Amino acid sequence: MSPDPTKVWFITGASRGMGEAFTTAALAAGHAVVATGRNPTAIETAHAQTDRLLAVRLDVTDVDEATAAVDAAMERFGRIDILINNAGSSFKGFFEEMSPAQVDAQLATNLVGPMNVTRAVLPVMRAQGSGHLIAISSGAGLVGFPYSSVYAASKFGLEGWMGALRHEVEPFGIHVTIVNPGWFRTGLASPESLIWPDVTVADYAERSAAQKQWWQAQDGQQSGDPVKLAAALIALTDAHPPPTRFVAGEDALALAERKIADLQADIDAYRELSASLSVDQPLER
Ligand SMILES: NC(=O)c1ccc[n+]([C@@H]2O[C@H](COP(=O)([O-])OP(=O)(O)OC[C@H]3O[C@@H](n4cnc5c(N)ncnc54)[C@H](OP(=O)(O)O)[C@@H]3O)[C@@H](O)[C@H]2O)c1
Repeated sequence: MSPDPTKVWFITGASRGMGEAFTTAALAAGHAVVATGRNPTAIETAHAQTDRLLAVRLDVTDVDEATAAVDAAMERFGRIDILINNAGSSFKGFFEEMSPAQVDAQLATNLVGPMNVTRAVLPVMRAQGSGHLIAISSGAGLVGFPYSSVYAASKFGLEGWMGALRHEVEPFGIHVTIVNPGWFRTGLASPESLIWPDVTVADYAERSAAQKQWWQAQDGQQSGDPVKLAAALIALTDAHPPPTRFVAGEDALALAERKIADLQADIDAYRELSASLSVDQPLER
């Protein structure tokens, strides 16, 4: 199958990590890229100059910047075929150690941020009668881990919203793909990205210190290659229709299979009780 002709990609969090790899891969495949981030100059300097690249400032928590970035994309390229909601932050900590402000900030970046950008992009895709929304979720969008409960809330929220949105926008020819990366070697576990808890709770102190040390030790040790993930995304965006979900990496596959097995075991353990909850009288029509 030959690849599709040039498409216009709109990528959030393109300054580093996966977003940078997605930008590089899409440009190399001949596509046009609106690469957005909080530091557009860093994006421009990371890539060879080409009129197929437009670097735009976009903090995904800012509704007005989302609208302005989409306007800039339309002015330059006249369409948006693929939106990758990739930008994400990583708040680490036990739930009780996270301040309300930290919870708000985590959800603002990983859940409300993608909503802000998607709200700005959807009218364009509806008018085109086509488009592809891709959300970079996580293994933590499938299974919740300790010290990442608020991060998991943001990714589970992202998945619930995108899963439902899929049905809402399907009639307009718009596809939705959720991506669940396992561990990939980006800056996510670097001092630049990890955000530690604001609140100290003595009962958690020892476990919290051990978790912090573990997370810091992961930096540069992750098994996944973001360049390979970017190549996989190029292939997925050429698929007709694209998948509704892509589980990325062997570790993520193991997590997904564990989730299926756990859910099946939960169903089987109380199947009779679960199935016994209808009202006794037959339904009146
Ligand atoms: N790496 C992994 O193992 C892994 C696993 C599962 C899921 N993920 C997900 O993959 C996505 C990309 O993360 P990464 O691994 O590439 O991490 P990263 O190297 O830390 O990069 C994070 C990117 O998000 C951007 N960002 C953060 N807050 C933002 C905001 N408010 N507005 C716009 N951009 C913002 C950062 O921009 P600045 O340069 O301005 O900080 C940076 O470009 C995230 O959604 C993450 O949750 C990663």
